[in-house]
Amino acid sequence: MSNIDLSVNIGSLKLRNPIMLASGTVGYGNEISEFSDLNKLGAIVTKSLSLKPRKGNPPQRIVETPAGMLNAIGLANVGVDVFLKEKIPFLKQFDVPLICNIAASSVEEYVECTRNLTSEETIKAFEINVSCPNVKEGGLQFGNDVNAVANVTAKVRAVTNKPLIIKLSPNVSYISEFAKVVKDEGGDAVSAINTLVGTSFNIFTKKPKIFNVNGGLSGPAIKPIALAKVLEISRKVDIPIIGIGGIMNWQDVVEFMIVGASAVQIGTLNFIDPTAPEKIIKQLEDYCIASNVEKLSNLTASYIL
Ligand SMILES: Cc1cc2nc3c(=O)[nH]c(=O)nc-3n(C[C@H](O)[C@H](O)[C@H](O)COP(=O)(O)O)c2cc1C
Repeated sequence: MSNIDLSVNIGSLKLRNPIMLASGTVGYGNEISEFSDLNKLGAIVTKSLSLKPRKGNPPQRIVETPAGMLNAIGLANVGVDVFLKEKIPFLKQFDVPLICNIAASSVEEYVECTRNLTSEETIKAFEINVSCPNVKEGGLQFGNDVNAVANVTAKVRAVTNKPLIIKLSPNVSYISEFAKVVKDEGGDAVSAINTLVGTSFNIFTKKPKIFNVNGGLSGPAIKPIALAKVLEISRKVDIPIIGIGGIMNWQDVVEFMIVGASAVQIGTLNFIDPTAPEKIIKQLEDYCIASNVEKLSNLTASYIL
């Protein structure tokens, strides 16, 4: 046992380490539990939940790109009621903070979903997805409008005392303006970033490779963009940031923390190697020992410009 302290705080949310699994890449934890000891992770974020079940978009919903992937799942999920009845009992057996990600097509739906989930003690925090590029209503329509993000934050804040994280869209000019209204309206943290809008065409059929035409780009291709967005927020707004986008190894985690992230989420990497998040936690500990870092959280916003 080493004396290294990997724990991080995101507002009142305490995590044993900064490694969280990103929404939409591990289902409700069930899709990764046979590969990874969930009890070792910092936190798990659920697939976006909506009030009623959603089928999502027809296939093709995923396509590989040179340095990542495009997805247009369209928020397929079981809905809040089935989640509470069928998914929560499975998750209760693990000692890992569960963060519920919520998606909706109206402010009322965001509020209703949060209200229906907030008394479930297994849920330790909410992450509000205002930034999904793959649905006609909700998603980017909210994520691109600073007043809408302020309004959603304020209305959801009013129905839960649990830590409230707003997941921001990178498809905007100044992401820090969005982080500022989240702070002003009582949000505890922001997640940055969700996927970037992209597309891909088959040159022989001249048709889009994805049914939805556009998809969300994730993976290593978006890491420099994500780092720039995290840095922008860190320099402009005093709010905890969860860094997301293209994390492939422990070095990427350290880089995100240096530019301002208190914790990180791993997404696309789970499809390549579902055992990677657990390995990264061990490697972060080794890094701390080798570099004389006693407390990993001291790295947050330690950049030198
Ligand atoms: C297949 C897939 C499904 C996703 N579904 C959701 C979702 O339901 N809600 C959400 O907030 N983000 C969703 N995301 C976005 C990820 O949580 C993450 O923000 C994004 O993929 C960037 O991180 P990465 O480059 O590590 O994958 C999804 C991403 C992928 C690849």
